[in-house]
Amino acid sequence: MEKNHNNILPIGVFDSGIGGLSVLKQLVRFLPQENYIYLGDTARVPYGNKSPEIVRQYAAECTDFLVSKQVKLVIAACNTVSSVALDVVSNHAGNIPVISMIEPASSAALRESSNARIGIIGTRATISSKAYENEITKLSGNKNLKVFSKPCPLFVPIVEEGMMKHPSTKLIAIDYLRDMIDAHVDTLVLGCTHYPLLSQLLQEIMPEVTLIDSGEHASVTALRILAEARQLQEQRKEFIEKPNVKFYVTDLPVNFAEQANMFLGFESEKPELISL
Ligand code: DGL
Repeated sequence: MEKNHNNILPIGVFDSGIGGLSVLKQLVRFLPQENYIYLGDTARVPYGNKSPEIVRQYAAECTDFLVSKQVKLVIAACNTVSSVALDVVSNHAGNIPVISMIEPASSAALRESSNARIGIIGTRATISSKAYENEITKLSGNKNLKVFSKPCPLFVPIVEEGMMKHPSTKLIAIDYLRDMIDAHVDTLVLGCTHYPLLSQLLQEIMPEVTLIDSGEHASVTALRILAEARQLQEQRKEFIEKPNVKFYVTDLPVNFAEQANMFLGFESEKPELISL
């Protein structure tokens, strides 16, 4: 088969902070042989409560950084960026393909739902943008489809504090999800990088519901796009003990290593501090 010289280039992943490491975790699960560049805009996190205008400006700068590192694919691992700034990311990426969190998770939700009642949870910016709602409606064509959306802003700090199993978290989650439970949604899109870490609790509260991890479905899309473009990195012969990831951050949070390990499930290298 004809070889493409782009195979060895890294995949660029960016997020507002460390949350996108939940997406990176899924990427290395599906594409373990790839090299990755991860940028976390830790100096300006969170994006989820900011205006679309400012998120668009930040997203442009993050994309420019990844492009300068000659990546073969850009993953907008942040759901907020994917919701309000995907056009900006695509423009700045030029002819490098871009994968957002929205389309893969929306298609997966439609595949999984049997009663056409789908719930979406995310940051305020993601939910206000209606990006998921619009994408699901566009892809569905089912006039009876109902989408229920709810911003869950407390989930981000709860996860960052590692309070997934704290009793108060369950009360907050029940409060957030009450309307979705009453509406009998059978599929719930975790439209934020941090929410997969709450999967166990959310499943406990809504046992019959299928949870959609946006990072997982974006990773499957990444695999497909690279395979179609014949840009997959060749399988390495040796056992891959640790994924090959170069980390960049715009600020070094005191507990970076702990938090990174919590999201990633493996120990990360020390990040390099950059300014955008
Ligand atoms: N990464 C963001 C998202 O997925 C959550 C954190 C933030 O608000 O920046 O929407």
